[in-house]
Amino acid sequence: MKSKTSYVCQECGYEFPKFLGRCPECGQWNTLREFKVAGSKLKVESQFAALSSEKTKTPKKLSEIKFEGKNRLLTGYDEVDNVLGGGLVKGSATLLAGDPGIGKSTLLLQVGLNLSQTKKVLYISGEESEEQIKMRALRINKNAKNNNFFLVSLNNTDQAFNVIVDTKPEIVIVDSIQTMESENLSGLSGSVGQVRYAALSFIKIAKTLGIPVILVGHVTKEGMVAGPMVLSHMVDTVLFFEGEKFTQTRILRSLKNRFGPVDEVGIFEMGEVGLSQVKDAEHLFMSSDNLKTPGSVLTVAMEGTRPFLVEIQALTVFSKFPMPKRVANGIDGRRLELLIAVLQKQVRVPVENMDIFVNIAGGFKLSDRAADLAVCLAIFSSFKNIPVSKTVAVSEVGLLGELRNAPYFDKRVKQAQKLGFKKVLSEKTHKTLPDVIKAFNGQMKG
Ligand code: TYD
Ligand code: MG
Repeated sequence: MKSKTSYVCQECGYEFPKFLGRCPECGQWNTLREFKVAGSKLKVESQFAALSSEKTKTPKKLSEIKFEGKNRLLTGYDEVDNVLGGGLVKGSATLLAGDPGIGKSTLLLQVGLNLSQTKKVLYISGEESEEQIKMRALRINKNAKNNNFFLVSLNNTDQAFNVIVDTKPEIVIVDSIQTMESENLSGLSGSVGQVRYAALSFIKIAKTLGIPVILVGHVTKEGMVAGPMVLSHMVDTVLFFEGEKFTQTRILRSLKNRFGPVDEVGIFEMGEVGLSQVKDAEHLFMSSDNLKTPGSVLTVAMEGTRPFLVEIQALTVFSKFPMPKRVANGIDGRRLELLIAVLQKQVRVPVENMDIFVNIAGGFKLSDRAADLAVCLAIFSSFKNIPVSKTVAVSEVGLLGELRNAPYFDKRVKQAQKLGFKKVLSEKTHKTLPDVIKAFNGQMKG
């Protein structure tokens, strides 16, 4: 049996035939690890050869290719199906990544139970025992006595492979990819080699059997661990499940999707009996109690095609340090630095000796630049200790302090009005940030 050795970068997942100190792909040092594939061809590959019906491929004319809507499975949750671009695609591999404890297993158990009403579902768990999962299923649904939902607790990749071939499910869930290991190669479960091997096996199963496979991947505090990073190149779709552990709101996003949009979000709430969909999430990311407190300003952020009213909170205090602190929670730290610089230079707000903290309520992560004006106003409001009440701000702020049009502006305004906020500050009402601040100052005096 011939064994092949290659070196895999733990950061970006690229593979090289020989050892290098620095990964030529991502430029990181000391990230290459040895990865032995000792005769792994044997088992998996030969089984696949037997499974594969098409031995040779012949190209087809475009007109001969049938496109059937039936290629997708609906999960029974609109919030999941929309993020996927219309349901799970048959023959595709999806990675569901997120912090430990955020609710990945719960979501997939619920999706699995739903799907099992019409399809045969196999849930492979390397993390929990069958009894534990049954207990959770009962907690979610007291009548969960589904005969089409198959559960197996194991963490051997090759064994899992055999179980899938024997069970012939119509959908497979693997929880989690980091717990799967094979004796075919060295390295503990969770190592890049094992994760890659397991992912390759399951992705091949998806393609060969034409069924959707969902893999769970944990993410550590540092962001992406080697596992999900390596995996995101390999799978068709990467979903992220996020939120703050101590609040109930959970957001499902797609970071990569070969079969749909990447900017839709699904909103859930973790409750006593599992996750429930939140259809009416427009004001979930604000707390009406704060709106009269200095430092709190509302904006309307777009996530895909959905507008959300989001509360920006800022706090400015005199710093004890020569280098004042700038802490951004839920927005990009560099964007915050830039906006503070604009406030200092264009509006002459003397915040150079202040620590500045900015936070987005409800664990929402904002990348929408239309929030710029609200961030600036929130900082100013905290600095002056004066509330900005009943006002929503929607505009990008440029380096020169100019206000810029936000995409989907009308949709955002409509959303703000629907929730009772008539006054929307934007480039339609003021030309520059100094204009807005001046008006705000005047309003304070008046
Ligand atoms: P879990 O799905 O196990 O997270 P992950 O698979 O991402 O690690 O969810 C764990 C948390 O969810 C746990 O802290 C308990 C909580 N939870 C509820 O609040 N309600 C429920 O009905 C369930 C099943 C879990
Ligand atoms: Mg879990």
